[in-house]
Amino acid sequence: MRIAILSRNKNLHSIRRLLQEAMRFGVDCDIINPLDCQLVVDGKETRILVGSNPLPEYDAILPRIGASITDYGLAVVKHFESLDTFVVNGSRAIAESRDKMRSLQVMAKSGICVPSTVLCRSGSGRGTKAAVKAVGGMPVVLKVLRGTQGVGVMLIHTPVSLNSVLDTLNSLEEDVIMQQFIAEGAGRDYRAFVIGNQVVAAMMRTAPEGEFRSNIHQGGTGKLVKLPVAFARSAIKAAQVFDLKIAGVDIMESKSGPMVIEVNSSPGFEGIEKATGMNVAYLIMKHLITEAKKIKKNKVRKEARKAARKTKPSRRARKSTAEKSGRKSGRKTSK
Ligand SMILES: Nc1ncnc2c1ncn2[C@@H]1O[C@H](COP(=O)(O)OP(=O)(O)O)[C@@H](O)[C@H]1O
Ligand SMILES: [Mg+2]
Repeated sequence: MRIAILSRNKNLHSIRRLLQEAMRFGVDCDIINPLDCQLVVDGKETRILVGSNPLPEYDAILPRIGASITDYGLAVVKHFESLDTFVVNGSRAIAESRDKMRSLQVMAKSGICVPSTVLCRSGSGRGTKAAVKAVGGMPVVLKVLRGTQGVGVMLIHTPVSLNSVLDTLNSLEEDVIMQQFIAEGAGRDYRAFVIGNQVVAAMMRTAPEGEFRSNIHQGGTGKLVKLPVAFARSAIKAAQVFDLKIAGVDIMESKSGPMVIEVNSSPGFEGIEKATGMNVAYLIMKHLITEAKKIKKNKVRKEARKAARKTKPSRRARKSTAEKSGRKSGRKTSK
């Protein structure tokens, strides 16, 4: 079996861990920088070149696409998909979950509880008051659409600072969402790691003193928790609505129960492995290899059936052979 991980940086903790586990499974695992991939479509043979060499055929691809190269990374994932290569997670799942507004639209439509949110491209004044009202009043949370690891997430306490931040973002042509501040759960959230249809590890993240963002990259600390059932259900449902087979789901506790604030399609797992003692890299590889084997088996079966169909004579040919052999032996053939 041969698999590839799409990642820009092979020195990242998650990539090193995945490689380690792939080796333990005895599979060949290449690390491919998506930016090194040249995608060829010429109407004859769709292929991917790295340098002047075409990539070999892979049994599975694991995209670990960072936010900074989402568009190019997604084009590479789509190219693998058009080559019928098995990809976990797929391009659509990554694209839909990564966009902070799109992801909330999808989840809200599926009945998952999400914070009240308004997408706004407004400078100060234009409808801002109505937007603030729609998210329950000040303070509000502002998020740039493609931020990650807590960067681009701001807590705004006053209309004056709200206007100046909105004006600044507007001048940078940066779209933002304005969101209800979940005061009762501020400074902590649950991170549930979903693989397949299961939560395999969960931790509670707590922000450092004076900070409302609980991301590990913002100094948050993770500790092992037993995820309450309602939270686990929300996490699994959230991963499923995007068709993400590997997902890190962020859930906050609110007055109205668990609220999903984000679903990550390339979740890091250094923090959660440390906090929970779970071997998440092993579980990811196990899922990938098991699914790839199933798909390979099905492909082989399909091809065998196709080949058998080609060599099998048609019904008409079989009938005429039967009639001929019937005449030879003097038997009557049925009509
Ligand atoms: N509406 C909110 N109310 C209170 N805290 C929030 C809210 N949204 C996010 N946070 C805090 O900010 C952190 C980062 O937000 P998130 O939407 O997950 O963005 P990122 O993609 O940057 O991690 C969350 O883990 C949570 O601690
Ligand atoms: Mg997050």
